[in-house]
Amino acid sequence: MRRLLLDTDTAGDDTIAILMALRARDAVLEGITINCGNVDFEQQVENALYTVQVAGRSGKVPVYPGSTHPLLKEWRTAKEVHGNDGMGGSYFPKAKQRPETTHAVDAIVDTINSNPGEIDLVEIAPMTNLAIAIRKDPGIVKKVRRFYFMGGSNQYLGNVTPAAEFNIWVDPDAARIVFESGLPATMVGWEICMRRGFLGARELDRIEAMGTGESKFFLAVNREVRRFTKRTYGLDGTECTDSLTMSMVLNPRVASDVRKKFVEVDSTDGPSRGATVVDERGVLGKKPNVDVVYEASQKLFREMLYRTLSGGPV
Ligand code: BDR
Ligand code: CA
Repeated sequence: MRRLLLDTDTAGDDTIAILMALRARDAVLEGITINCGNVDFEQQVENALYTVQVAGRSGKVPVYPGSTHPLLKEWRTAKEVHGNDGMGGSYFPKAKQRPETTHAVDAIVDTINSNPGEIDLVEIAPMTNLAIAIRKDPGIVKKVRRFYFMGGSNQYLGNVTPAAEFNIWVDPDAARIVFESGLPATMVGWEICMRRGFLGARELDRIEAMGTGESKFFLAVNREVRRFTKRTYGLDGTECTDSLTMSMVLNPRVASDVRKKFVEVDSTDGPSRGATVVDERGVLGKKPNVDVVYEASQKLFREMLYRTLSGGPV
């Protein structure tokens, strides 16, 4: 049985990644840690708790609040993408389960130390919690089984700036610490998410036709994202970045072309701040530190997503 620890800025597709992990047949979600990112911090915590409830697992999966600000930069949210509540303006009622009092950083350090070699760490948010955890106890790096993250881009295709993707851009200083730590990392960048994690009107109609609690939840939390995507990219649909990443965690065959590269984060204040600079041709001669996903199976991903939304096991 795989064992996952998930760090999230719960809004929009983060919720679907959580649902998918909670439906996994051969993985257990040990805990959820919250990092500043998409919307107001307390709202993100509530969104995670509510999602656990939607999955019928209330009280079974601890939710640990963590960093409320990036290490050095000012925090800018993505409310314009996900709506003020991060759930497409649904304003769901408060979940029954309440957050833990243990800080996310301590939860990360303790969970990894108590289960050396066992934990797959999944990051679908800015990396502040993780960077502080690594600074607090650098020994955890060698005890993580694998570190998967949604963030960055291998082709300088950003979504916040021309060069930077949101998760890295919010806290590039933290991301730099994580990239340089030696964690065995797999990167799922914005570019591959847009190419293989995008759902168009036809797919969304299919989800609507399912008529399950989960499918209604999916459409509600992604309502604002759909409007934003139309406004910004002229496309009718929603991008599933975090759930595409989770599908690769649960089924490595989803990532069909993965290449080892040296990747560096630009944490300076110039125009490419927050960019992940992938040494494509190895010109720097440095040891690769990241497995970069270049291609993914849209078919396998969608099958897993549809199974999640139909309430079945994944
Ligand atoms: C990432 O930023 C967030 O808005 C999404 O949840 C995803 O993790 C995409 O850039
Ligand atoms: Ca996210």
